[in-house]
Amino acid sequence: MERLQKLIAKAGIASRRKAEELITSGRVKVNGELVTELGTKANPSDVIEVDNQRIKLQDKVYFVLYKPASVISTTDDQFNRDKVVDLIHEDEQVFPIGRLDYDTTGVLILTNDGDFANMLMHPKYEIEKEYYVKVKGLLRKDASKLLARGLRFEDEIYKPAKVRNVKYDDKKENTFLNVIITEGKYHQVKKMFLSLGHEVVKLKRVRYGSITLDGLYEGQYRALKPHEIKTLYNLANNKS
Ligand code: URA
Repeated sequence: MERLQKLIAKAGIASRRKAEELITSGRVKVNGELVTELGTKANPSDVIEVDNQRIKLQDKVYFVLYKPASVISTTDDQFNRDKVVDLIHEDEQVFPIGRLDYDTTGVLILTNDGDFANMLMHPKYEIEKEYYVKVKGLLRKDASKLLARGLRFEDEIYKPAKVRNVKYDDKKENTFLNVIITEGKYHQVKKMFLSLGHEVVKLKRVRYGSITLDGLYEGQYRALKPHEIKTLYNLANNKS
């Protein structure tokens, strides 16, 4: 048995406080009976109605998607472009944790668990995000040092980032590398390299915390395993 307001909040209809208001204002029924008392408990299997509409209690679900290019991470778009949420064929309504640009590919975690999403996105937990990047030009030699110090660009401050596996294509004058950041600011990787004088021409997120693209092809997704969810909690808790 759980408090009625908690069950209503879990269904995603309202916050717990708003759910209390729904109850006290006589808009909630349990198994056909009007309930206005706040202490009331109910079972998830009970028929709970708000304004005579049965609420649907959703389990918490967690997926990792290999986001392809040319889909947007937001849940609505004025240009009616394809959305990442349309690639997830499940009963539960999920939303992405953070965003990847329209042209960025790679790891995107989706869930209906708002607390989990807020935890992973909170800057204080410094969850690592690793990107495989192709930049125009031969990367300036001091790039790793500058990125490791942290950057200031266009009124934004970027925390220190790590660079790995730098490979130069001398003929085509491109550079390939991995960069690891702990924030999720708008166009962050593109802006960081732009501040060093390099345009990012390809961007793929290869890791989010402990979650990689292993076993997935572009456009495909899978449920996270309980131990993977636990590891993400642990990564955050180790930083708190
Ligand atoms: N940084 C960017 O510039 N774009 C992304 O999509 C993700 C990180």
